[in-house]
Amino acid sequence: MLHHDIVVVGAGLAGQRAALAAARAGHDVAVVSKLHPLRSHSGAAQGGINAAIGAEDSVDTHIFDTVKGSDYLGDQDAIEFFCQQAGPTVIEMEHFGTIFSRGDDGSLARRAFGGAGFPRTIYAADRTGLALLQGIFEHLSTETIRIYDEWFLLSIVVREGRVQGITAFDRKSGQIEGIVAKAVIVATGPAGRIYGRTTNAHSCTGDGIAAAYRAGANLKDMEFVQFHPTALLESSILITEGARGEGGIMKNALGERFMTRYAPHVLDLASRDVVSRAIVTEVKSGRGFPGGYVTLELMHLGKEKIESRLQEICDFSRAFAGVDPVTEPIPVFPAQHYMMGGIGTNMQGETNVPGLYAAGEAACVSIHGANRLGGNSLLETLVFGKQAGVAAAAYVSGAPESRLAPTDLERETGHFLALRARTEGESPRVLRTELQQTMDQSVGIYRDPDDLYRALRKVRELQERNRNVHVVDPATTYNLDLTDALEVGHLLDLAEVIVVGAIARTESRGAHTRVDFPARDDKNWMKHTIARWTSGGPELSYAPVAYTRWDPTERVY
Ligand code: FUM
Repeated sequence: MLHHDIVVVGAGLAGQRAALAAARAGHDVAVVSKLHPLRSHSGAAQGGINAAIGAEDSVDTHIFDTVKGSDYLGDQDAIEFFCQQAGPTVIEMEHFGTIFSRGDDGSLARRAFGGAGFPRTIYAADRTGLALLQGIFEHLSTETIRIYDEWFLLSIVVREGRVQGITAFDRKSGQIEGIVAKAVIVATGPAGRIYGRTTNAHSCTGDGIAAAYRAGANLKDMEFVQFHPTALLESSILITEGARGEGGIMKNALGERFMTRYAPHVLDLASRDVVSRAIVTEVKSGRGFPGGYVTLELMHLGKEKIESRLQEICDFSRAFAGVDPVTEPIPVFPAQHYMMGGIGTNMQGETNVPGLYAAGEAACVSIHGANRLGGNSLLETLVFGKQAGVAAAAYVSGAPESRLAPTDLERETGHFLALRARTEGESPRVLRTELQQTMDQSVGIYRDPDDLYRALRKVRELQERNRNVHVVDPATTYNLDLTDALEVGHLLDLAEVIVVGAIARTESRGAHTRVDFPARDDKNWMKHTIARWTSGGPELSYAPVAYTRWDPTERVY
């Protein structure tokens, strides 16, 4: 059995920032991750990080934009704190070594992003996540933090009403291990692979969210799933909102700048829920290109600007769609991009389980409410990663010793043996593909109740079939078939929560658009959905939204 004060699960920006804060508070910290930290999905973030640092901008405007963007479901006290931290956080990251792009006068360059009143998105070309990840990893390496990479989380152990540690599977050795810890911080990122059309990496399977849910943590607002308007056709690789921020424009097959119909003031730079709905409406109304898409034009920006500020999306467009953005329009269609929901936390990253913390996309504070603004996600990882690290450090100083029982490991070993002993059964990849097709078709941007109920029946059928999942590959090390089988169980549990929450919420708000309830219903639905694990499926309850200064009004862009 291994021992640490605090275990951080997940090594993206939120996990690394949490680990750094906890280690700098003087604690013995370990990071457990199924990937090397520099391969975390944070590295895929392209467009930038928001901070109101310009003379013409203000923290209050950032707060208001975020509240409005959230369709008034974001907790306003948390949003105020979050936006106040933005400037210091970006400066700290610059001091950590992140090389941000610069304006002609040498100041931090800023670009416009959707739903923002001012250009406040600070960036490193279109590789901002990677630049931040490299900067913070250098600092992590200066601390005595033990990193267990290629380790796969199996369970979070909660006994006597508090966290005792985790069990995990070392993919390199094939061993199941236990790590005793007084506090666990979950920062495993999203579960975007619930969907087939997603900008998320294949590793985004919600492992930490599912483990926390099974361990008794409440999940919050899971029905709110963000679709990014401009994913590359077919591959669904992200084409950053920064492309529109730099002046890119979208057109339908009639050559119309169709956003004039949906967001007459800000056009292509409306918030993501608005733009995604607009694209789907254009295609459904027969104004899309054959095959169902619209185009994003950058040609008018000129080769120099395109290739210096948007290098990565040039490479992706050329390699994966065979188009050169310097001379041709890019074919795009919305794809799942972000989960507004996650493990419910307060501003300190505390969950309802003593000793269990969460941060980043795995968590829901909630600052994004029903729809997140682009550029607020990287900021979230750093602000609330640090908060969770500081809070966990304070908690372990006064917490009693933790203990894992032999049965904690035996349970996982027994599960593995049973899985391996099975000689036939369901393929995890088939289960995952059927789940993804169901979610793409039935739990997308526009949500029809019949489709939602059909999806729920299908998810439950897949959960039943998953009891008989079969691992074909007998390898004891680096067995991807085995981890696929574990991951599909996580995806199914979280998909069930999304669908149950979406069925229950009989209104349209932010990214949740019910065709049978097209209006926002503040009287009945200005509340967070809370999902609790039970053996019969998620049990829902509701919690109030925190208000400070802004009364809900109609959202117009
Ligand atoms: O479009 C983008 O670059 C995505 C940014 C974000 O999700 O914050």
